[in-house]
Amino acid sequence: MAYPLKNLQDYDQFVQAFERLSGLDLKLYKENQMKRRINNFINNHGYGNYTDFFQALTGDRQLYNAFFKHLTINVTQFYRDDRLWEVFRTKIVPELCRHKSSLKFWSAGCSAGQEVYTIASIMNQYFPDIKYSILGTDIDVNVLEQAKEGLYEERDFASTPKSIQERFFSRVDNKYQVKEILKKNVTFQKHNLLTDPFEKGFDLIACRNVVIYFTEEAKNVLYQKFSASLNPGGYLFTGSTEHIFGKNDLKLKSIASFFYQKQL
Ligand SMILES: C[S@@+](CC[C@H](N)C(=O)[O-])C[C@H]1O[C@@H](n2cnc3c(N)ncnc32)[C@H](O)[C@@H]1O
Repeated sequence: MAYPLKNLQDYDQFVQAFERLSGLDLKLYKENQMKRRINNFINNHGYGNYTDFFQALTGDRQLYNAFFKHLTINVTQFYRDDRLWEVFRTKIVPELCRHKSSLKFWSAGCSAGQEVYTIASIMNQYFPDIKYSILGTDIDVNVLEQAKEGLYEERDFASTPKSIQERFFSRVDNKYQVKEILKKNVTFQKHNLLTDPFEKGFDLIACRNVVIYFTEEAKNVLYQKFSASLNPGGYLFTGSTEHIFGKNDLKLKSIASFFYQKQL
């Protein structure tokens, strides 16, 4: 597709052009942080202005992918914030299982799938009689490819007990391949949390370390949509710095740090 090149005078014009190119609306991300990240990237890659950089982006897939990755920040780990996964295992899932024998999870902004396979490993070890499905979504197709393949580095396991790493992953050269048993109830899909429609009927949505750069307005809309996607009694699991205010309007009640339950 050809993108008519006009002079992109400023950040706003670059953001508009980039939305047409990528579908990602950067106006819904906090401007100061995003602008700093974008300008750093442009300077570090030796471009003098937005026009030259945008022109390069339209013709160089590798540069485009590197820029997209820089914007979306994919850093993650298995069992990230392990004490919260302890709450998930000992409190949240047992509560859900009191009423149901089949659970539907969504990891929204799942990066390369580490959060998805963390949930699968907990379900597999501690709740073997409960049926479950996990949807992992992200806006970045490159991380989703890795998630589907399920091949990881040693550093992804920094918060993972050795016994779990050994039980659910096979060593392939100097990497680790997730075993079929964790893959079988898992689906990955491209999804933009800011623009795409949301599926409904989830018992738990984990959306952690994704909204840090979203504007307050974008976050409010997002939390409304998450609430609508949860079953009554379902949970929203947020990142360990993310507190939700105005929870009453959202029908979400804080029941443990970073876990919010939708009214029954
Ligand atoms: C830091 S990772 C978080 C991964 C995992 N949830 C965790 O807590 O470790 C943030 C992810 O959010 C994704 N992301 C950013 N903006 C998004 C959007 N608008 N829609 C969907 N995913 C988005 C990024 O591509 C990235 O993979």
